[in-house]
Amino acid sequence: MVASMNKLVSIACDCFWERYQDRPEFVVAAPGRVNLIGEHTDYNNGWALPMAIDRYTVIAAGANPSVVDGVSEFEFFSEQMQASTSFTTQHPPPNLTAAAWSAYVQGVLTVLDGAGITTPPLRGVIVSSVPSGAGLSSSAALEVSIAKLALTASKTPATDVQIAQWCQTAEHQYAGVPCGVMDQICSVSGVADHCLLLDCKTVTWQTIPIDSEQVAILVVDSLTKHSLAATEYALRRRECQRACEVLQVESLRDATLEQIEKNLRTINLRLFARARHVVTENARVHETARHLSEKNWGEAGRLMYASHQSLCNDYEVSCRELDQLVEIAQSIGVSGGLWGARMTGGGFGGCIIALIDAIRAKEICEQFASKYKNQTGRQTEPFIVRPAQGAFVVRS
Ligand code: GLA
Repeated sequence: MVASMNKLVSIACDCFWERYQDRPEFVVAAPGRVNLIGEHTDYNNGWALPMAIDRYTVIAAGANPSVVDGVSEFEFFSEQMQASTSFTTQHPPPNLTAAAWSAYVQGVLTVLDGAGITTPPLRGVIVSSVPSGAGLSSSAALEVSIAKLALTASKTPATDVQIAQWCQTAEHQYAGVPCGVMDQICSVSGVADHCLLLDCKTVTWQTIPIDSEQVAILVVDSLTKHSLAATEYALRRRECQRACEVLQVESLRDATLEQIEKNLRTINLRLFARARHVVTENARVHETARHLSEKNWGEAGRLMYASHQSLCNDYEVSCRELDQLVEIAQSIGVSGGLWGARMTGGGFGGCIIALIDAIRAKEICEQFASKYKNQTGRQTEPFIVRPAQGAFVVRS
């Protein structure tokens, strides 16, 4: 049973009390996300359709009295990792071999410091119900919760887009992942019962309602680890850049199918396939948003399968286990209450999401679990996620 927001807050506060015999002055929360469709489009200035999920990272924090020589001192304990980190933003920036979670924490505070936002010395406890390494943006949830905490403690106003972009910069510079802005925007600006139709060029979005009475989003973890920071993600970005150079467009958002057929197919089949994924995926985002608004689940599901195929064949970021899960989804099919499925996030492992009939959730979960176990020996536990509110301050 996943911890509710109240439960997470009380775990964080209890843990803070145990460590420091004090009551936290600040409590903040930021969610993970799933992306319904529009994968690997964000860094191509395209569109995506993510939603924040009801899985949060919560931080309980207060002033840190152990300041050395007036230098900002921070100390954070991660309940999930059972480890702590302490640092100052004045020291040399964190190195990339530091335990990943602490690089995110340190990175965000350092980026804010660079933007002229001085966070007072803090100590805190981090708890989370966002599974880590599963492609559900546990890193964005951590970054955004730290940024929210820093801005609250320093009483600094900031827009959602600023917060997301600072966090994105921290991920680039201190975690070594050249990510787009989708995860961070979604974690900052998610809206309950809605997904976001996000324009990654203008960094603006529209909200699209998701009728949770009828439809549910199921997450099924392949239990294989993706390594976004590793070479493939950065390689895809470079390939897209190269395709733009050949096409002489600023970004693949500006390319048409006709253009890539004419100018890329004969020159470089790999770049052609990458560009074709991005161009067709952008179109699928708009169509899916329309179908979801019209409660046309069958059509939305069909586009999810098409997205998966494109990510698998043209973009080559899927893997055997994700494909197996999508095949299981197809075997359950519309008659079993499942409209469509696809990998979500960067790929190379992590989770798939399926659009399902809410009242059939239990039987669908059981089918996924038993079929995946039979095929791979792995015991996955599918779970429903609800479109949730973005980051917020619980206490200040
Ligand atoms: C990761 C990145 C995002 C996005 C997705 C793929 O989640 O953090 O910016 O590029 O991969 O859509």
